[in-house]
Amino acid sequence: MKKFFAAAMAAVMMGSLVSCGKDQADKGEAGKKKIGLAMPAEELERWNSDGAYLKQQFEEAGYEVVLKYSQNDASKQNNDVLGMISEDVDLLLIAAVDGDQMSKTLEEAKAKNIPIVAYDRLIMNTDAITYYISFDNYKVGKMQADFVRDELQLDSTSGPYNIEFVAGDKGDNNARYFFNGAYETLEPYIESGKLVVPSGKTSFERVATDGWKTDNAEKDMKGTLSVNYKDKNLDVVLCANDSTALGVTKALESSYKGSGQPVITGQDGDIENLRNIVDGKQSMTVYKNVSDEAGVALEVCKKLLDGEIPAANLTESLDCECVFDSESYNNGVKYVQSYLLVPYVITKDNLQLLVNTGLYRWDSSNKYLELNK
Ligand code: GAL
Repeated sequence: MKKFFAAAMAAVMMGSLVSCGKDQADKGEAGKKKIGLAMPAEELERWNSDGAYLKQQFEEAGYEVVLKYSQNDASKQNNDVLGMISEDVDLLLIAAVDGDQMSKTLEEAKAKNIPIVAYDRLIMNTDAITYYISFDNYKVGKMQADFVRDELQLDSTSGPYNIEFVAGDKGDNNARYFFNGAYETLEPYIESGKLVVPSGKTSFERVATDGWKTDNAEKDMKGTLSVNYKDKNLDVVLCANDSTALGVTKALESSYKGSGQPVITGQDGDIENLRNIVDGKQSMTVYKNVSDEAGVALEVCKKLLDGEIPAANLTESLDCECVFDSESYNNGVKYVQSYLLVPYVITKDNLQLLVNTGLYRWDSSNKYLELNK
């Protein structure tokens, strides 16, 4: 994967990151087949962008789209998907609220021969899904941890430094990968005592955040600060994504008594977090290019709708870095054939890379970014 990341970074550095698959959309032949798009929550900026972008891409390629957001509610999402199945959609593309709670619903789709593609989050315990499109999720966590290691110069300074972990929602299969990627990378420093976790919360279960919600992360962090940081400095909060990083930043602003700005990680490139990065309140975010992920999804779905079987060689026709992997993502029933894209690190020094994706632009002050809508 290293080589792909390097290549992606090189492309990005040259400002040439192109939307994956967009140019290959086959408008004429697509006909009016209907796509059911099920997204977790409109409230989370990331999903709001993905939903809108996917809808636009599929419509531009000549498909009809039914898009549903499910307010982070797994049973609502099951009902939404059942509705799409009864509307006779030709394909389902689903980012699950809770990957463990969809298998029964998807049996209905399977019975009607509706192909199902898992988008970004794996759907567990079902053989009904055929493909999974995502990023290398373990790597996302590893990149956050590598950033922390470099910022604190863990290999050349003696520490000790205080760190806390904030993870995502337990029902999201990705959340565990993010946590493991981060924790396992930093574990040797924790074992040697260079990093200390004063709260003692070192397992995924103990640091998971319900619904990835900012309010929940803020509440949890306030609790940790009041119990464990009365007379200590906090050096790092390894947050799995931007919505949780935002909650942590709010908690620090209202309740942190120590000195210094802790290193705070994130993921997604949400606008408020990018402002915080400019203002020095957050250190980085791992960015996963929505247009690339949507572009790969479109290509895979087009093949399925044309009755073809997407395979490893599909990646050759893509203009973004993407690997085909059938050995990493087991959903409890089978290894799901996956197309995995490459994330990259954003700091205040390379925000222009986000502008180069075409999805962001500089605002009128030329200091902060806004969405390019
Ligand atoms: C994950 C996704 C992340 C982040 C998070 C919160 O599944 O991969 O990018 O958005 O959900 O919604």
